[in-house]
Amino acid sequence: MSADHLRVLIPSDHIQARVAELGREIRAAYGDDPITCVGVLKGSFIFMADLVRAIGGDVRCDFLAVSSYHGGMRSSGVVRITEDLRAPVEGHHVLLVEDIVDTGLTLDYLQRLIGVRAPRSLRTCSLLDKPSRREVDVKPDFIGFSIPDEFVVGYGLDLGERFRNLPHIAVYSP
Ligand code: IMP
Repeated sequence: MSADHLRVLIPSDHIQARVAELGREIRAAYGDDPITCVGVLKGSFIFMADLVRAIGGDVRCDFLAVSSYHGGMRSSGVVRITEDLRAPVEGHHVLLVEDIVDTGLTLDYLQRLIGVRAPRSLRTCSLLDKPSRREVDVKPDFIGFSIPDEFVVGYGLDLGERFRNLPHIAVYSP
């Protein structure tokens, strides 16, 4: 698992510019309403930190953690919630914030999990989207970048817990 296998796919300045745009799009979609952003740990933590500052206005933050990967490059296909939200979201405008949508299993699971908690609205935002890998029919409402079917790391995304601290998104090819 060496850094020699990394190739920059999205440089840091492109990410920053797109996140600023996403913040404006999201704020425009909600007007002045408060938004409860729910980050999906761990992969979304860096994106979430930048995104909530780009959205501005009345934003609350909560997190939940799921696991489906067990440290490898392929999803196990079984989504498990390992840490739940701290506060109820009933009556809130909830925006789920994901790092990447791949098969769509995680987003589908989380939409159903939060959907039954009676939010005022539920929308989804993912920094990255790999539409060619979809196994269930889900599409985030806000997408940073669509990317090809390659395994990527950086800006929060990991391979076996490494590379989350890269400021850019890189393709990892073994
Ligand atoms: P899905 O359930 O298959 O859509 O996968 C969602 C989760 O798998 C993401 O939140 C990531 O944690 C992980 N994942 C999917 N593709 C990648 C990748 O290319 N790099 C790192 N993690 C990934």
